[in-house]
Amino acid sequence: MNRLKGKVAIITGAAMGQGAAEAYLFAKEGARVAAADVAEKQLQETVDRINQEFPESAIAEKLDISSEENWNQVVKDVIDHFGTIDILVNNAAIGSADIYDKVDKAAFDKIMSVNAWGPFCGIKAVAPTMKKAGKGSIINISSLAGVVGVIFNVYTVSKGAVVALTRGASQELGKYGIRVNTIIPGTIMTPMTQVLRDNPAVLEACRKKTEIGFLGEPDDIAYGVLYLASDESRYVTGADLTIDGGERYKDVLDLDL
Ligand SMILES: NC(=O)c1ccc[n+]([C@@H]2O[C@H](COP(=O)([O-])OP(=O)(O)OC[C@H]3O[C@@H](n4cnc5c(N)ncnc54)[C@H](O)[C@@H]3O)[C@@H](O)[C@H]2O)c1
Repeated sequence: MNRLKGKVAIITGAAMGQGAAEAYLFAKEGARVAAADVAEKQLQETVDRINQEFPESAIAEKLDISSEENWNQVVKDVIDHFGTIDILVNNAAIGSADIYDKVDKAAFDKIMSVNAWGPFCGIKAVAPTMKKAGKGSIINISSLAGVVGVIFNVYTVSKGAVVALTRGASQELGKYGIRVNTIIPGTIMTPMTQVLRDNPAVLEACRKKTEIGFLGEPDDIAYGVLYLASDESRYVTGADLTIDGGERYKDVLDLDL
């Protein structure tokens, strides 16, 4: 309890999936949370649920992360309401399974605008407040796709960009006391992966790709984000934390000795 006591966090994509789990866990650990999403109805339900258990700990902020105007408004609202911003979790993204030869420029731009420009713009929006405070923790959610490839498509490209974003931002912002890190999730049971649950053979193939024999739940990621958000990780910046049941390195060196 109280690992984030007194801190204010913005979490994007907080209506459902991993973002909702992070918003709940952050409130449980004493943070005040601006839960932001485009899905307004589900966002309000998530915020109401959090406030029922932890009164007045969360507010709902309508945000399309690809809009700089939206970002500036959300930052203003959060400062008006909570007074500061200590933590940004760049979690929101959209998935795409379309292979490269089905992707035209418009489709490419749409995914990149949300998955790469969105987190970039979020950092740009919160940086002045964090710089003034001389502290801050930013956590960008990438994907195994962004570091091992998985498939040749625009989602993979966008998630690789998130890793590069972390590197660049951590170098630029460290001198102001702002840490920037990446979480690299494997397969996690959220609305984004419903398509896998609809196809048991594919789901089983994903499970077999892990070392640990089961697929992750949103809380498995939320606990990693909590660590990077808290002062417990004060010496960690520019880092990647892979949370994937062992999938990233499975079978790299599988000698039967
Ligand atoms: N679920 C997985 O297996 C998995 C694996 C690797 C990485 N990830 C990454 O983890 C993060 C969370 O994924 P999830 O599985 O919880 O996804 P999800 O689809 O369940 O939830 C994503 C949330 O983001 C919101 N969102 C989408 N576009 C938005 C926009 N333009 N502005 C604001 N909000 C927007 C959605 O409304 C939704 O609430 C994403 O960055 C995703 O790429 C997920």
